[in-house]
Amino acid sequence: MDFDTLAAARYSVRKFKTQQVEQEKIDCLLRAARIAPTAGNRQPHRILVITKEAGLKKVDDCTPYRFNAPLVLLTAYDTRRDWTRKYDGQQSGMTDAAIVTTHLMLQAADIGLGSTWVMSFDPRKAVSHFQIPAHLVPAAFLVIGYPADDAVPAEQHRERLALESLVYFDDFSACGSGA
Ligand SMILES: Cc1cc2nc3c(=O)[nH]c(=O)nc-3n(C[C@H](O)[C@H](O)[C@H](O)COP(=O)(O)O)c2cc1C
Repeated sequence: MDFDTLAAARYSVRKFKTQQVEQEKIDCLLRAARIAPTAGNRQPHRILVITKEAGLKKVDDCTPYRFNAPLVLLTAYDTRRDWTRKYDGQQSGMTDAAIVTTHLMLQAADIGLGSTWVMSFDPRKAVSHFQIPAHLVPAAFLVIGYPADDAVPAEQHRERLALESLVYFDDFSACGSGA
């Protein structure tokens, strides 16, 4: 699939088949995560693969948004490894983890899998259930599986601002303070 087609076809899948995701496809996803760009190439991202029923139940205790997906990837970043902008101390970890999660999401779509990025989870429960050490910050649960035959995009999928509302030229003065 070319990128235009893939980007247009992808949507957040919230209804999955019970069919397991094959190990080759999990490997393919992880390869896509590995080659994601990171600030200073510091590669602070870490990924937890969750497929066992006990782990999936723990995900369910962290968030109501697993949608019975048979595979969950928890992306995180290592605060000891991410890059820091010298001008203001801004750290790259969450951005790096978001790019990795985006690679995973688009790779999933390219190999016939559906996914939803889940940020609405209780990080304290995630830390406790998955024994996340203090130097790792959990970024996202990416819930993944084969889309159910009757899976459809949510209404929100079609709601995108017009380019005129997103794009400015030369400076942002026209953006103003309104919505
Ligand atoms: C950073 C981020 C966090 C999100 N968190 C959730 C979530 O917790 N639960 C959920 O159902 N969807 C979540 N989503 C999915 C968005 O709701 C979805 O991407 C958006 O409505 C656009 O729909 P589409 O992905 O189908 O195009 C998240 C997406 C992003 C990028």
